[in-house]
Amino acid sequence: MMRIIRDIKNMQRISRDLRRQGKSIGFVPTMGALHIGHLSLVKQARRENDIAVVSIFVNPTQFGPKEDFRRYPRNLKVDAYLCKKEGVDIIFYPDIYQIYPQGYKTYVLVENLSDFMCGKTRPGHFKGVATIVTKLFNIIQPDIAYFGQKDAQQAIIIQRMVRDLNMPNKIRVMPIIRESDGLAMSSRNSYLNVRERGDATVLYEALEKAKIMIREGIINSAKIILAMRNIIKKRKTAQIQYIEVVDLKELRPVKKVQGKVLVALAVKIGKTRLVDNIIAKPQKY
Ligand code: PAJ
Repeated sequence: MMRIIRDIKNMQRISRDLRRQGKSIGFVPTMGALHIGHLSLVKQARRENDIAVVSIFVNPTQFGPKEDFRRYPRNLKVDAYLCKKEGVDIIFYPDIYQIYPQGYKTYVLVENLSDFMCGKTRPGHFKGVATIVTKLFNIIQPDIAYFGQKDAQQAIIIQRMVRDLNMPNKIRVMPIIRESDGLAMSSRNSYLNVRERGDATVLYEALEKAKIMIREGIINSAKIILAMRNIIKKRKTAQIQYIEVVDLKELRPVKKVQGKVLVALAVKIGKTRLVDNIIAKPQKY
């Protein structure tokens, strides 16, 4: 039987009891509007733990004032159905006023890593993410928490936070799940109209181009980024927010590709902001 738990204290009590019984807890934090990308994390949580917990919470503190918090897709019925089918044991679906009661004051900030790439176009975003994830870890008390490579910067920040704050749980990062035409699955893809949906494949197209250039030994990041820009420019609805070639640990831009790099980008397709990334390395490494 799958349970939907709304109360924080109740959830904490259930987790404590499960752990006392020696059961391991796998945890997948989400904002709902679940798709196959989310479900790949759920499947892994299921495989590696006795109990699988999914949280569904559209976290207001990670949205900017002009962003899509209000219109972010919400559909608990469908999400619950999908979770049940995957064998999820508990959905944690908290109330916003219990998570952030009036006068809420405490935030978690992972310095430096939060300021560039998505942090630059979305100031305060990663502070909101780190804060809610910390709160959810304290409520669920998981053994392992699962994140997607889709949000590469988020995964790196969370791993860093867990290390820096000596959090006892492990983090697993799972590969990006894509549509058949390469578009990374995202709850925000539902905002796209037909024309925009066509243009949205340009993120993956540009990343594939970068991958090939890097594999073939082009090491100049500026040259790679320019080639990507030229591909994206051809699509009318696309507007680049950033394209970066960075190292995998510190997310610092690299001028020359020597070894593994993360190529990451954010592109607005119409009004919808999409992110994607790829890990690439020159053939000789
Ligand atoms: P959300 O966007 O719902 O994503 C939940 C998790 O699913 C994240 O770890 C994300 O990287 C992963 N994910 C999304 N699309 C994916 C795809 N196509 N392939 C693989 N994994 C994918 O990320 C968040 O929510 C929030 O920031 C959250 C961590 C829940 C904090 O509020």
